[in-house]
Amino acid sequence: MSYATIARNTIANMAKREADAFLAAHPRSAALAAQTNQSYLFGVPLHWMADWGTPVPLFVSHAQGARFTCVDGHEYSDFCLGDTGAMFGHSPPAVAHALTAQASKGYTTMLPTADAAIAGQALTERFGLPFWQLATTATDANRFVVRWARAITQRKKILVFDGCYHGTIDDVFVDLDPANPDAPPSTRASLLGQVYDLTQFTDVVEFNDIEAVRAKLVSREFACVLTEPALTNCGMVLPADGFLAQLREACTQTDTLLIFDETHTISAGYAGYTGLCDFLPDMLVAGKAIAGGLPCAVYGMSASVAQRMRTAKEAAPAGHSGIGTTLSGNMITMALLAVNLKQVATAPAFDLIIAQQSKLSQGLRALIAQYNLPWNVTQLGARSEFQFCLHSPTNGREAQAAMDGALEQAVHLYLLNRGVMITPFHNMTLVCPDTTDADIARFLAAFEQCLIELTDAQNQNYCIKMVQT
Ligand SMILES: Cc1ncc(COP(=O)(O)O)c(C=O)c1O
Repeated sequence: MSYATIARNTIANMAKREADAFLAAHPRSAALAAQTNQSYLFGVPLHWMADWGTPVPLFVSHAQGARFTCVDGHEYSDFCLGDTGAMFGHSPPAVAHALTAQASKGYTTMLPTADAAIAGQALTERFGLPFWQLATTATDANRFVVRWARAITQRKKILVFDGCYHGTIDDVFVDLDPANPDAPPSTRASLLGQVYDLTQFTDVVEFNDIEAVRAKLVSREFACVLTEPALTNCGMVLPADGFLAQLREACTQTDTLLIFDETHTISAGYAGYTGLCDFLPDMLVAGKAIAGGLPCAVYGMSASVAQRMRTAKEAAPAGHSGIGTTLSGNMITMALLAVNLKQVATAPAFDLIIAQQSKLSQGLRALIAQYNLPWNVTQLGARSEFQFCLHSPTNGREAQAAMDGALEQAVHLYLLNRGVMITPFHNMTLVCPDTTDADIARFLAAFEQCLIELTDAQNQNYCIKMVQT
């Protein structure tokens, strides 16, 4: 079977032309960028905001449902959805209403409200874990579960999977060497200001490699395995059949806590990927979309873990636990969490978004086949990832090898200039309950045009060569 390959100059030419077109169409964004360059490092409130590949940041005017409008008046179908924060749509009406209702009733007291009771019950009913705690971001929640895991097991090490991302919790930034996976892991080179050798207490193996997990856990030195049930930050890697159940078993046998970070994999269904498993993790983290896109994260735990946490807390001397932040679980957050869980992130909403994503994924697959590209689409409920490899990757190394920053950037810009936004850094698409067939059709039409340009040698005067694979 032969596949089309795309010449590098095709990609570079497209990126250049699309960058110019973006600048021409966004004079107001360019003017704002000139202003923000005066007051913000990198010209933006957070350095990632400058990493979209656009020549100037795209400044947003307003967002509603599945769409947003930029300050130049262009409307976009949003398939990034704040990288999951807005997976139930921008400003879901019930959340917006609760926000307004709470706005004049107080924000933060360091005390629970009646909404805490509603939200707590809703979390337990959904995920099956009996006890919960709040954090403000999923990063914090991950930091806290790792701390708790170490505290209650009295073990220092944690195990993660190569290619993982759990927010900016330092402990997990440990990588295998892609050229030599058997070499000792190292602290991620891109980390700024990290002075500790993270490999001292964090070890890493390939996802889907249960033998490697067993070989590590047998030492009983590990407090926990922290993982997404499917990797979603290095492209997408689904668990192989039986892998998660085997992981559960390996953890149970060695008294290692199994922690699922469902911050992204919540896309898999009403109870995240956990809802698709016939076992529970010991602890579970969710954030981003859990309160409708406002800062909030939760972590849950089994009854036995909760009991061990109580014991550890009671045994500790009075003073700072290193767990919690002042604004976590504040009055507004609890109101939004309760409403989002009860009225927005419902089972029918998940049925809808998964069905819409299936349409998008099937459409993308059909186009990839039609234009003869050795790419694939991996779907995880409401999110999917198109990846520049023939088959869905089975581990982080394969997923990362399939990444192509320049090609991604050209495709993303091409789509953006035609009113379709997807997640930067890789090729994730997410849909929300407001994503219509028209949004999907807009995406597929733009994607098709992009593939025609990338692969059509004659019309575009570009060099395409067919290779035998
Ligand atoms: C799986 C996972 N966990 C945690 C986080 C951290 O979320 P936040 O940046 O909201 O703290 C992320 C962020 O992308 C994530 O992908």
